Amino acid sequence: MAIETVGVVGCGLMGSGIAQVAAEAGYAVVVREVSDALVKKGLARIDAFLQKGVERGKLTPERKAEVMGRLAGTTKLDELGRCDVVIEAVVENLDLKREVYQALDQACPAHTIFASNTSSLSITEMAAFTKRADRFVGLHFFNPVPLMKLVEVVRSPLTSSAAFDEAYAFAKSLGKEPIKATDKTGFIVNRLLVPYLLDAIRALEEGVGSVEDIDRGMQLGCGHPMGPLTLLDFVGNDTTYHIANIMFDEFREKRFAPPPLLKRMVQAGLHGRKAGRGFYDYGQDPPRPMAGLV
Ligand code: 3HC
Repeated sequence: MAIETVGVVGCGLMGSGIAQVAAEAGYAVVVREVSDALVKKGLARIDAFLQKGVERGKLTPERKAEVMGRLAGTTKLDELGRCDVVIEAVVENLDLKREVYQALDQACPAHTIFASNTSSLSITEMAAFTKRADRFVGLHFFNPVPLMKLVEVVRSPLTSSAAFDEAYAFAKSLGKEPIKATDKTGFIVNRLLVPYLLDAIRALEEGVGSVEDIDRGMQLGCGHPMGPLTLLDFVGNDTTYHIANIMFDEFREKRFAPPPLLKRMVQAGLHGRKAGRGFYDYGQDPPRPMAGLV
């Protein structure tokens, strides 16, 4: 079945990025948020990203208008009933996801593929919320979605080979590089990334180096685009804390256990860049390491 129309549930940071790349790839896109204000905010984020691209000479104003013209916003899940693939990018709350999938299962035709952008919840468990577990996959995108090339395509034990191949080809058609993963919590990237990020916090707690030197070490010593503490602030310390707890719950291994400093930072609202403060204070230009963390 050829994919023509793509649905995206959730138009936050990840959902808006996914909607944008689908529209850029030529698909008609319907994106759903829970209120008109959030639909507007999500579409405005896409508009702003494309506008920056115009200013950087990456695309023409005509191309931007064409991409924006392929995006429709809605507050009604029913309107995703005309989509050939629906990607869910709502908050990582299983009860909420159950509601979304059960409503989508009613609204969408049998051929529609359901894909979750979850980073740490079980694809198998979500597939079981629907009557189409064979057409349910994970499509895990990375932040910032329009710039990061990778998509993890995740199969559960119930995913059919045909649906998996369609989802893999779809990810490729978005201009992304897909990799195949099975439904083990964290998939490939977070399985390796999360313990590394948590270890960077432990190194800070143990006085191995300063915030800036830990970051500079990994940037200059390993060629990473961001040091681990900058990356934690970028992803959101609350998000990493949440993912680490889910992974620790699943595997009961110390390497996934969130260190006390991360927990304290989340309790203090030091969620990272979006909160203005995390390992760095973004109220200063350039951002300075937060005083008093250790
Ligand atoms: N439109 C078009 N192109 C744009 C653009 C825009 N609005 N904004 C930036 N770009 C282009 C730039 O022109 C540049 O292109 P060039 O290489 O051809 O010159 C390129 O994107 C990089 O942009 P910048 O130079 O402005 O920014 P940086 O070089 O500082 O890179 C970054 C920014 C891509 C975010 C880089 O710092 C990076 O890769 N960081 C790591 C991000 C990462 O690891 N993400 C994954 C997080 S984990 C995750 O998401 C999983 C979850 O489950 C937790």
